[in-house]
Amino acid sequence: MYPFVFRTVLRRMDPETAHHLGMAVIRAAGVRPVASVLRRFTRPDPRLQTRALGLTFESPFGIAAGFDKNAVGAIGLHALGFGHIEVGTVTAHAQDGNPRPRLFRLVEDRALINRMGFNNKGAAAAAQRLKRMRRRIPRPVLGANIGKSRVVDVADATADYVASTRLVAPVADYLVVNVSSPNTPGLRGLQAAETLRPLLEAVRDAAGSTPLLVKIAPDLPDDEVEAIARLAVDVGLAGLVATNTTISREGLRTDADTVADYGAGGLSGAPLKGRALEVLRLVRASVPDGFCVIAAGGVETAADVAERLAAGADLVQGYSAFIYQGPFWGRRINRDLARTIR
Ligand code: FNR
Repeated sequence: MYPFVFRTVLRRMDPETAHHLGMAVIRAAGVRPVASVLRRFTRPDPRLQTRALGLTFESPFGIAAGFDKNAVGAIGLHALGFGHIEVGTVTAHAQDGNPRPRLFRLVEDRALINRMGFNNKGAAAAAQRLKRMRRRIPRPVLGANIGKSRVVDVADATADYVASTRLVAPVADYLVVNVSSPNTPGLRGLQAAETLRPLLEAVRDAAGSTPLLVKIAPDLPDDEVEAIARLAVDVGLAGLVATNTTISREGLRTDADTVADYGAGGLSGAPLKGRALEVLRLVRASVPDGFCVIAAGGVETAADVAERLAAGADLVQGYSAFIYQGPFWGRRINRDLARTIR
């Protein structure tokens, strides 16, 4: 059914408009009686229950940051089978993001390019909604991903991240510092050790008892991936998310002119699979057991999830394949994953 709807309707729509339509359906899925009916069909097999970050996840598989930027769809996403939802990226100042169009489908590559630029209604608004969602039973694990407001200078980034932290950390199950989106000028420069350490230390102090993670780019050289992983351990973080989107355009099937026309942005989906797995392995080899590693990038099937878990991920996230595979993607992954567990 979904492949037909995708081919005939959604594929012809502007991707961002299709996303808003999808989000309206997801929000409807979160309305109480609908959610309980759906859950009968989507509830993950109890054997998928996973402990990480001191929390219990119904499934190791969740939705990566950027899908539910304003924390409006998490209950519906849970009703569709996802074990955790990482909301955001939210910024201390509400912002519109980049001008549209800013989201593009590369159908032949099962990929997306986006330069959304952290469009969001601000950390205070997200905190209000997270607070409300925490009262829902059942509910997913709710992560909050924070970024730098565009109006704030890179030199003043720490205070801006701390402002978001104070708002969302008390109402989130875990917090992720995003220093790896390619769509905010200067943001990825914050991954340099001399700027990253003081930033992470300040956010850690403001986060209190909420587990704190850092999310990294796949474009870092291997030695920098290892150095950041060691730094995260040294600073006392609870974990790391690997990876964000890539600025690489290598190995795509979509013709080069079309890709060039789409312009700047982060590439996600199937082409990211290889590098994301490599980065996961580098990170896992650099951190002790008990340090939580969340894998993201190019995950499409339960076999991909199983491969990431076998490579040392504690949790796995996806985004792009949801667009191509439709609303029951999470449920399908959980079902197929449970079959691999004896
Ligand atoms: C993203 N991603 C993202 N990540 C993040 O930390 N903050 C964000 O706001 C966003 N926004 C965003 C928007 C869109 C349209 C996409 C496709 C992706 C990155 C996302 O969380 C994930 O790390 C990558 O997309 C890789 O996973 P997939 O898509 O290959 O499964």
